[in-house]
Amino acid sequence: MSNTFFSYGLIAIPFVSVVIIMAIRALYPKPYPDIPHNKDSANRVSGDIPDLVPLITATNEFSNSIFRITTQKLGTPIAQFLFPGIRKPLIVLEDPREIEDLLLRRNKEFDKAPMALDIFQPMFPKASLAQYTTPELKAQKRLWADVMTAEFLHKATAPRIHKATLELVELWRLRISVSNDKPFAVDEDLQNTTLDAIWVSILGDEAGIIDHSIKKLRNKIGGSIPFDATPPRGGFLRDEVRYISDTIARISNTPSPKWAGKFETYTPRYQRFRSTVTREISLLMAAAIKRFQGLDVETLNSGDTDRCMLDLVLRRLVLQSRKNNNAPLPDPTKDQNMLDELFIMLVGGHDSTANSLCWFVRFMEAYPTVQSELRTVLRAAFPGPEPPSAQAIIETNVPYLDAVVEEGFRLAGAAKGNLRQAVVDTSILGYHIPKGAEIFMNYHITRPPVPVDEAKRSGSCQAAADKHGDGLRGRAGYDLDKFEPRRYLVKDIDTGKETFNHYAIPSLAFGGGYRGCAGRKLATLEFRIFVSLLILNLEFTDLPEEMRSMAATEKIFRQPDMPFARLKVL
Ligand code: HEM
Ligand SMILES: *[C@@H]1O[C@H](CO)[C@@H](O)[C@H](O)[C@H]1NC(C)=O
Repeated sequence: MSNTFFSYGLIAIPFVSVVIIMAIRALYPKPYPDIPHNKDSANRVSGDIPDLVPLITATNEFSNSIFRITTQKLGTPIAQFLFPGIRKPLIVLEDPREIEDLLLRRNKEFDKAPMALDIFQPMFPKASLAQYTTPELKAQKRLWADVMTAEFLHKATAPRIHKATLELVELWRLRISVSNDKPFAVDEDLQNTTLDAIWVSILGDEAGIIDHSIKKLRNKIGGSIPFDATPPRGGFLRDEVRYISDTIARISNTPSPKWAGKFETYTPRYQRFRSTVTREISLLMAAAIKRFQGLDVETLNSGDTDRCMLDLVLRRLVLQSRKNNNAPLPDPTKDQNMLDELFIMLVGGHDSTANSLCWFVRFMEAYPTVQSELRTVLRAAFPGPEPPSAQAIIETNVPYLDAVVEEGFRLAGAAKGNLRQAVVDTSILGYHIPKGAEIFMNYHITRPPVPVDEAKRSGSCQAAADKHGDGLRGRAGYDLDKFEPRRYLVKDIDTGKETFNHYAIPSLAFGGGYRGCAGRKLATLEFRIFVSLLILNLEFTDLPEEMRSMAATEKIFRQPDMPFARLKVL
């Protein structure tokens, strides 16, 4: 008996040891072969995480911390971030040309990554941000594509954004009058402005948030001016959108955003969000449909009555039913695809833009010569005395203004890090990338790229450089950490005239390709109107030393830690 036990034991000991060794080994990071990584991190179970955590704690910037301890530390254009072995490494890519190529020209090889979709999936499963590129998604994108055409934006959206911006100018004039030449915080005003702008652009309804702030401040200054203290129509919206932004930021910082998101959908707060916003949107939808049902086919076809994005989408639904012998109209207020897309556009479309504008305000203070050159150029283009109309701002060719807008998005880096997943076995910069690998890319170009052997680049990337040149190696690529709009301007040697070159350097602030930002044209329009009206009406003067920091905190978007301005009325 004891003999048998003994011999079993002899077999069991090595067996157990092998199992333990294998289990421990499974916990160690499993780097992809050849792709550069930190050797020390490969030899510990926790991988790169112990280097990452203190950096994030010190800087509040998640994406930048990943780049700093991988590509930037190793001095390579591509590297990998090592997780414990239960999770595959993250491939990190910092080369702007290769990123642009991957986004624009390699859509068959790379799609959205699970890690990116997981953040939105539980709460907004039918929003485009939560879906892989499927036939269903393509149909959804077609439905919304026309609301972002230049023609539609100029006709229906620009005047509304123009009005919202003039209200901000008015509010800031009032703030200046009571500020005693002291700086004041601008971040909330910018968020309120972009909310007004996005709500009315999408839904055609005035949220009245800035208007309310104006009246409140006037009342405070004037004392006797009567003031209706009931919150603005859009007050609820601000709370709801804020709740969603904060929730997305919070769950994206948990180990499992998918489960954290799923959990959130069961909370009363989430249910309240859904019911409140759906109720408001449904009212607007019902009114629009009623209006369209009263129109004849010819008027419906023309689209002349569209006042906002929702109008266009609903008008098409009514038209379709009319053409199908008055087939019953699907109820859009129950259409989850439509509601989810609307929610995401409201949330994503206002926070991103507000943050980019906030950075712009910081840049104007930090680069006074750019500010005065911009004002000179704008005054020449729009002599006044009235502020230029939305149409004038859109249609007047002002290359320096184009350049300021592009440079503003670039240096703001509101959306810094973004993900894709390889859907086939492929390669990047000569390294094998297996199907399923996730790639984390830097959309914020602030430093000269590490040199890359041209032959290692993809064929399409090389071809693009043959066409547009490699701008980052030339004049346009100097001082990438500085705000320098001139990098996008090209002077004609014969006429001396300057033109804006959109291809001067890669443009990554909105991602790109089929899954790039759906709201890019809207954001660009908004930025252009904002920049023109603000610079013509107000001067951004210097801030005290302690407010000049360009430090950022990255939540969903990168936002400045010092969102202050000191302003003068012109
Ligand atoms: C300055 C403002 C903005 C910035 C910096 C920005 C940036 C981005 C980025 C980086 C992406 C991911 C692209 C990728 O994966 O390559 C994205 C996606 C998206 N954005 Fe924006 N965005 C802005 C404004 C807007 C606005 C105003 C709207 C809508 C009204 C909008 C709607 C969307 C949508 C729907 C997607 C998802 C597209 C898809 O998954 O196919 N964005 N945005
Ligand atoms: C922004 O709007 C909300 C809702 O009306 C208001 O409570 C808040 O005070 C506004 N922010 C500023 C800085 O005026």
